[in-house]
Amino acid sequence: MQLNQTRILLTGASGGLGCALAHELAVAGAALLLTGRDPVQLARLNLPAKTDYQLLQTDLTTSDGIENTVQAARNFGANVLINNAGVGGFGLFAEQEWQDVERILATNLAAPLRLTQALLPWLNKQPEAAIVNVGSTFGSVPFAGFAAYSTAKAGLRAFSQALRRELADTSVHVIHVAPRAIDTPINSPVVRALNTALGSGMDTPETVARLIVEMLNNNTPERHIGFPERLFAWLNGFAPGLVDQGLRGKLSTIKQHATHLRTE
Ligand SMILES: NC(=O)c1ccc[n+]([C@@H]2O[C@H](COP(=O)([O-])OP(=O)(O)OC[C@H]3O[C@@H](n4cnc5c(N)ncnc54)[C@H](OP(=O)(O)O)[C@@H]3O)[C@@H](O)[C@H]2O)c1
Repeated sequence: MQLNQTRILLTGASGGLGCALAHELAVAGAALLLTGRDPVQLARLNLPAKTDYQLLQTDLTTSDGIENTVQAARNFGANVLINNAGVGGFGLFAEQEWQDVERILATNLAAPLRLTQALLPWLNKQPEAAIVNVGSTFGSVPFAGFAAYSTAKAGLRAFSQALRRELADTSVHVIHVAPRAIDTPINSPVVRALNTALGSGMDTPETVARLIVEMLNNNTPERHIGFPERLFAWLNGFAPGLVDQGLRGKLSTIKQHATHLRTE
């Protein structure tokens, strides 16, 4: 897509990756409708002077939030939706409060599906349109300590593939990107310590934002970011038992860090 001719609704623009994405997209010449819950963080986005942008405070887990966002996107003339808003979810499943599980599923899975469905009739009318879903490595390599989060991201990945196949005869592209860990506030100190203990690679939000912009530019449908994460995603697809064995060796480290959550 020609980014200097796109009008993009970006959710989660007040967060780490969203902020970096807003900058990269603005530099590429896109017009931006930027959403988040925290108006202070949204107002801090310091975009290039000539950027055509609007801010919208909205909670995407509510019906009003979805309706307001869709109305604003139509008024803005959006032809690209980037479903980036999300919440983290580290903890042993048996110990997680059900409210937290519901929040993870509502924000990371139900909200992007609902927003996409509500905006799709509008996107279908555009000469060219795109939906970008920000998933996670854990959507392809479901991880101990992230059961609900992995479930939501695996659902988002399946949704992206199903929708891409359903819209194959339209002008709406469906893009799914699966980053590994990114240096953003979604990762609590315990999760950061876990990543260090496991030797997990972490990217900067700017690196991931640039890759997503590249995908949009080239209409790249799928991408796993990072190696060996890409290899594990592939391996989990055809030999999940091997991944089970690999993760079994990391379980005591994961459980130790989950224990710290109780004292945090
Ligand atoms: N960071 C990583 O390690 C990593 C790795 C793989 C994938 N991802 C994915 O990347 C995406 C961006 O995450 P991030 O790392 O940038 O995290 P972040 O810094 O915590 O930002 C999350 C964003 O989502 C917004 N959000 C959360 N709940 C919302 C709700 N109910 N309604 C509307 N907006 C809501 C937040 O808004 P407010 O702050 O204004 O509430 C914020 O803008 C997420 O989908 C995440 O799952 C992240």
